[in-house]
Amino acid sequence: MAENLMAQEQMAQLTGQIEKAAGAALERIAKLASLPELNQVKVEMLGKKGILTQMGRAMGELPGEVRPLVGKMVNKARQEIMKALEEKEQALEMQALEERWQKEAIDVTLPARRRPAGSIHPLHLVLADIKKVFIGLGFEVVEGPEVELDYYNFEALNVPKHHPARDMQDTFYITDELLLRTQTSPVQIRTMEARRPPVRIIAPGKVYRSDADATHSPMFHQVEGLYVDKKVTLGDLKGILTLFARSMFGEKRGVRFRPSYFPFTEPSAEMDISCFICEGSGCRLCKNEGWIEILGAGMVHPRVFEMVGYDPEAVSGFAFGMGIERVAMLRYGIDDIRLLFDSDIRFLRQF
Ligand code: DAH
Repeated sequence: MAENLMAQEQMAQLTGQIEKAAGAALERIAKLASLPELNQVKVEMLGKKGILTQMGRAMGELPGEVRPLVGKMVNKARQEIMKALEEKEQALEMQALEERWQKEAIDVTLPARRRPAGSIHPLHLVLADIKKVFIGLGFEVVEGPEVELDYYNFEALNVPKHHPARDMQDTFYITDELLLRTQTSPVQIRTMEARRPPVRIIAPGKVYRSDADATHSPMFHQVEGLYVDKKVTLGDLKGILTLFARSMFGEKRGVRFRPSYFPFTEPSAEMDISCFICEGSGCRLCKNEGWIEILGAGMVHPRVFEMVGYDPEAVSGFAFGMGIERVAMLRYGIDDIRLLFDSDIRFLRQF
């Protein structure tokens, strides 16, 4: 009887403890607000010193007759706690997911950010037009080296060492025999050395001269032209270059050829076009001349043919050369050559 009473008292005490402990655990779980927090509490409760383990352990110490009853309670409390943990975990996971969705949400109705598009450099625009005209006339585009032998840049073009014509161009020398080409004319020599006539080429590329101001740049671009065959005449030169000028600058352009001097042509000429701003009456662009100089040209000098092993009695030809910057500046009304090389996109965007 006394034993029974004690057991009953012990039971009531135990039940109270279990209920209290379970209640506290459930309350704690209910308050959890984040997954890391939950994980920590889970480890705590399921661990060696955790409430669930301790409840199990306490059961072992109970007298046999109360064990089943208390056991039931403990199991129930344990299940409730496990279930609460699981539900909380799911809820917090869902909450975390929703937060992420919200943070990473993309508004597909926003206008797209445009990538800035590049444009073609005015020098390339001009070169493309020049190429188009000459390719249409059967000319082939070839290239040559920018670091050039003195021989190709001068000697083979009928400019021996110490010839006064060397002063026409301020040369960057690398050694006595090596230089930065001052003109694209050496490509004429290289091409003729490598081929037999007929030769019909244009050779665009960079050239270098020690010269710098608003209309001169130490590096600039030229296009060379060469046409060699049997019976090529001054009439061919005039016809082809006139056709070129009108394709480039308009069908109405007047054209004139002035006698000039180049060591590698005889006779030599410079070609002018009538001013496309004032149509010849005189303006700032043509410096009141009514005419604008556009290129140098001439009939290939017999000595040049001899240098490349062509027979000047059997073939003839004409050559020409022009500055691409100059054409671009005229065409687009650019008054400072440096704008073409500054890479200022405010300038370049206009083309
Ligand atoms: N090479 C010359 C210069 O840079 C331009 C030139 C003139 C080229 C007459 C030619 C030509 O082929 O025939 O000033």
